Amino acid sequence: MPRLGVNIDHVATLRQARGGREPDPVQAAVVAELAGADGITIHLREDRRHIQDRDLRLLRESIGVILNLEMSLSPEIFELAVVVRPDQLTFVPERRAELTTEGGLDVVGLRDRIASMIARCREHDLIASLFIDPDPAQVEAAIALGVDAVELHTGRYANATGSRGNEVEFAALRRASAQLVAAGIELHAGHGLTLKNTTPIAAIPGMEELNIGHAIVARAVFVGLDRAVREMKDVIAAATSPIRGVIAANAADERSFP
Ligand code: PXP
Repeated sequence: MPRLGVNIDHVATLRQARGGREPDPVQAAVVAELAGADGITIHLREDRRHIQDRDLRLLRESIGVILNLEMSLSPEIFELAVVVRPDQLTFVPERRAELTTEGGLDVVGLRDRIASMIARCREHDLIASLFIDPDPAQVEAAIALGVDAVELHTGRYANATGSRGNEVEFAALRRASAQLVAAGIELHAGHGLTLKNTTPIAAIPGMEELNIGHAIVARAVFVGLDRAVREMKDVIAAATSPIRGVIAANAADERSFP
């Protein structure tokens, strides 16, 4: 069953809207961990629009599950990562004007820069993952670099309209996943995943980690973060085995007793 990495950036987005201390992403991470999250994902953007350096340091000290830091190829943020030592670094493209990460890293075009970043990760014994679109050329380039993990961008699949578009995008994810698994690269996916569209992605053979943020935080506004995380865990469990789904749902019921 794939791990669930809960992306808590948007808890910080809400905090930054008022410039105060609440809601606190560290508290959110603790609640998510208690609800069964297998990891906490944050994106420390160059413009620091949501997660701050302090959050990264406090999270490193507060949580017991995997801390996955999404970051651009910025040397300044890498220096911080070397000091704080997240469990995994996921390299993403970053543009100042974008609302969220819009596409995958251009591994073909940025091969040398990415290769030297991976080498620096090795030097410091840090796990490196590349966030890429499920395009054959990008997948091949990532495999050639021998990175530890690849996170496939599921945004095109999530935004596809109509069953035809959905099938085409899902087929691209399936093909890319098979290529990566055959090459022995750990397979992750994320972006735009929701309670409704996660099942087929979670069921892709070899899928090891799903990073999901917006849908969980948005749902938490109405049902609370604990329940929002448990619901997503249940969807992932049910996708990989119906029996696991039943066990997860029963466990969630028990946890909801006071
Ligand atoms: N994975 C990566 C690499 C991302 O950049 C993001 C968005 O920050 C996510 C996963 C989570 O996407 P969403 O918030 O749409 O679930």
